[in-house]
Amino acid sequence: MYVLGIETSCDETGVAIYHAKQGLITHSLYSQVEMHSEYGGVVPELASRDHIRKLIPLIKQSLSDSGLKNADINGIAYTAGPGLMGALLVGAATARSLAWTWGIPAIAVHHMEGHLLAPMLEESPPSFPFVALLISGGHTLLVKVDGVGLYHLLGESLDDAAGEAFDKTAKMLGLGYPGGPKLAKLAEQGKPQVKFPRPMTDRPGLDFSFSGLKTFTLNNFNASDKTEQNKADIAAAFQQAVAETLSIKCKRALQQTGFKRLVVAGGVSANTQIREYLTDMVTKERAQIYYPRLEFCTDNGAMIAYAGCQRLLAGQHQGLEIFARPRWPINEL
Ligand code: KG4
Ligand code: ZN
Repeated sequence: MYVLGIETSCDETGVAIYHAKQGLITHSLYSQVEMHSEYGGVVPELASRDHIRKLIPLIKQSLSDSGLKNADINGIAYTAGPGLMGALLVGAATARSLAWTWGIPAIAVHHMEGHLLAPMLEESPPSFPFVALLISGGHTLLVKVDGVGLYHLLGESLDDAAGEAFDKTAKMLGLGYPGGPKLAKLAEQGKPQVKFPRPMTDRPGLDFSFSGLKTFTLNNFNASDKTEQNKADIAAAFQQAVAETLSIKCKRALQQTGFKRLVVAGGVSANTQIREYLTDMVTKERAQIYYPRLEFCTDNGAMIAYAGCQRLLAGQHQGLEIFARPRWPINEL
């Protein structure tokens, strides 16, 4: 079974073809980062219009790259949410219409389920059950995963997502969009001079909060001389605080579930220092850690094709409606 995967929830147009037995056949991505950088963040209307321009050419390219014809595709998976409504509608309407034209099923995929299952595309995928830490621009979730579709939310961010905190902090420090990778680069030049707070680690529970840390960082920055070195030191202190906070919560989640496998996915999982902290922690816990390859940490079509394929194999598919849900809690799956 060949599944075409379509991702358009935010600022990347991602397309992939996954085969149930052969694995990933092809994947391609068009990033809108350059277009949005002029505005310092994602402009939703521009995002939707660009998905319209890029999606069909990427689908055509994916088919020709893999030597497949339209008739070879057995199902279409598309990101139905959460995400930007206009952007989601481009993918949903395109996927639904193509599936109708080709007479094949379409399946709506939850974007965070895509991230969660992305490590399954690697050579040594984790087996179930595992704990998943999903850290992206819009979400920070700790999920107990018993199998495909068997998700129990253990904790989430009560305010800013981890990626959002990186992006907003980067903006404060005068770095461009997207801020996460830029802040991480700057942090390499610095050393934490002050220990920043590790929010919500001094009380039980698995929820997160990054908004106070962001304000702490801003106050620290405002009180500083704003030299390049001070900026780098502040970036390093902020990043270290996020890394340690995530590591403390993941350790708790592993201990609480008794699981020995941790999956870390979503854009922020590309961060080297966060990986180092989590790797150290799982080693001490005698557990294993799994990441997607770097290009599948951030948004992509491959994870959507994979998740959709698993759901189609389980006999699920969508009706004829164009299904898009900008807010879609993962525990409703
Ligand atoms: O998963 P993703 O591509 O999109 C969403 O689903 O939101 O994640 C994007 C987020 C952005 O906030 C970006 O700044 C952050 O991931 N990010 C990073 C790094 N690479 C991407 N944050 C910290 N360090 C990085 N190396
Ligand atoms: Zn994402």
